[in-house]
Amino acid sequence: MHGIADRAGLTGGLPVILHKLILRFLKYKDDMGFYHIQAEDTVRWLDKAGVRLGRGATTLDLGCGHGMIGGILMGRGCRVTFADENNWLLDEYRGADFRVFDIERDDLAKLGRFDLVICSNVLEHISRPERFLKSVDCLLEPGGKLYLSWTNWLSPWGGHEYSPFHYLGPRRGHLVFDRVVKRPRKHTPYENLFPTGIGSTLRMVRDNRNLAVREIAPRYYPELAFIMRLPVLREFLTWNCVLLLERVDRRGSWAHSLRNSL
Ligand SMILES: C[S@@+](CC[C@H](N)C(=O)[O-])C[C@H]1O[C@@H](n2cnc3c(N)ncnc32)[C@H](O)[C@@H]1O
Repeated sequence: MHGIADRAGLTGGLPVILHKLILRFLKYKDDMGFYHIQAEDTVRWLDKAGVRLGRGATTLDLGCGHGMIGGILMGRGCRVTFADENNWLLDEYRGADFRVFDIERDDLAKLGRFDLVICSNVLEHISRPERFLKSVDCLLEPGGKLYLSWTNWLSPWGGHEYSPFHYLGPRRGHLVFDRVVKRPRKHTPYENLFPTGIGSTLRMVRDNRNLAVREIAPRYYPELAFIMRLPVLREFLTWNCVLLLERVDRRGSWAHSLRNSL
């Protein structure tokens, strides 16, 4: 399944991921090998960040797609619930707990509370990320973690399969791509792909007083985390941004009450 990774004796890491990203950029297709490496990389990153995995940790894979991240976590002993507006789960996860759930329409609280929520590459596909980020803490147990990653709009992959034409703007880029490249396109801005920046998302996250940012990194090359300290530049240099957020209950605290009453 892994191809290059197997030959290199690796399952992830910077060289493999970069090689895969470049191939993906040159020849867009749904690449299961890429998704698998991405999922393994995600779990490795969570381990490094000190997130407690396994031993019955309740976990939600929200917008799970094929379910590879949740699938690996199940293998580690987590109790995983998968949720997506459509069921794309791989056959091997068909017996797992799956909920049909539309983030735009349904009440997040109905999904329950979890020690860990994975929301990988979903944020840029929802029209009102601010609404989601305002209430997402309700999915977390106190001290629970949210792994949130998305392809930021100004990233070289911001337009997904019609990149780099997205740099011509969200109103025009896809239309120029249609005329020039003439390849089928899955994404249309403001229909199923929404320009989502790093700075703007961090501001939304900070508006939720129950969430604290524990880690921030470029997802595919976290070794270069210093990029995240460079406003504006980070929007272009980051292919995909990852945040690790933790639920810290401050809403009831006197400091928060005081701040709100002023
Ligand atoms: C790019 S895929 C990511 C899949 C998986 N999380 C991963 O990282 O491989 C985006 C996923 O988000 C789901 N999605 C998009 N909008 C959604 C919504 N409003 N509610 C629930 N799921 C949604 C899609 O069905 C799709 O499975």
